[in-house]
Amino acid sequence: MVISNTLLKASLEAGKGFFRQPVQQDAQRSGAALDAQPVMVPIRSIGPGHRERIAVHLMALGQSDRYLRFGYAASDEQISRYVEGLNFERDEIFGIYNRKLQLLAMAHLAFSISPELQSGAEFGVSVLAKARCRGYGSRLFDRAVMHARNEGVDMMLIHALSENAAMLNIARKAGARIERIGSESEAFLKLPLANLDSRMTEMVEEQMAQTDYHFKVQAKKFRDFVATLQDARRST
Ligand SMILES: CC(C)(COP(=O)(O)OP(=O)(O)OC[C@H]1O[C@@H](n2cnc3c(N)ncnc32)[C@H](O)[C@@H]1OP(=O)(O)O)[C@@H](O)C(=O)NCCC(=O)NCCS
Repeated sequence: MVISNTLLKASLEAGKGFFRQPVQQDAQRSGAALDAQPVMVPIRSIGPGHRERIAVHLMALGQSDRYLRFGYAASDEQISRYVEGLNFERDEIFGIYNRKLQLLAMAHLAFSISPELQSGAEFGVSVLAKARCRGYGSRLFDRAVMHARNEGVDMMLIHALSENAAMLNIARKAGARIERIGSESEAFLKLPLANLDSRMTEMVEEQMAQTDYHFKVQAKKFRDFVATLQDARRST
């Protein structure tokens, strides 16, 4: 009983982590002050069945964004190789989808394979240009930190170009130590130990994101079906 009460409390508390601080898109576009209202961003752990969507997402990045993401202006071929090489069993890939099931933002949390740094992980992220400044980058970062923590990682590394103000801003705000080495920077974030709250929060977030995604899949199927009916009606 004590355990179930503790779990219930933790799961209710866990919801708090699911709501990021507000970025109201309309207000943002108009430059108006942002109201403090929570906005839900379902972030889902994605598997190998989504390789194609990941490739489409990365190939939609312009040259300068590819440069910021990979440290070089990756060609489509290099992106294809990167996507093919993703190890979904070892690493974790997180995604944010819109209602058309387009991958708007994704993060790759790569666990260290170095024997000297067994409890380390590297974070990489990209957000489509049209979906920037909505807090997606920050939310993916928070999600990756939570997962890494729960997996026993104690140090997260973010490799970024020194000109990458947005990425370094996200890392700095999380408390990372940033070392600048000329045109490149490395941010090191020490992670706290996992606890019941971090484990419950991740479980609840993942469950809600999976439900949201399946709802989007069903809604898209329904919209496609209606569109087919309308096309058939028009052509008769
Ligand atoms: C870096 C990137 C992921 C940020 O995504 P985003 O969803 O726009 O980021 P957020 O909306 O969460 O904003 C994060 C912070 O950076 C700030 N920021 C966003 N764009 C910025 C810019 N161009 N210059 C300076 N600061 C910026 C935001 O104001 C926010 O700060 P705040 O929390 O103090 O308001 C996105 O710009 C991107 O995909 N860039 C190309 C790939 C890349 O650089 N990846 C990182 C290297 S792995």
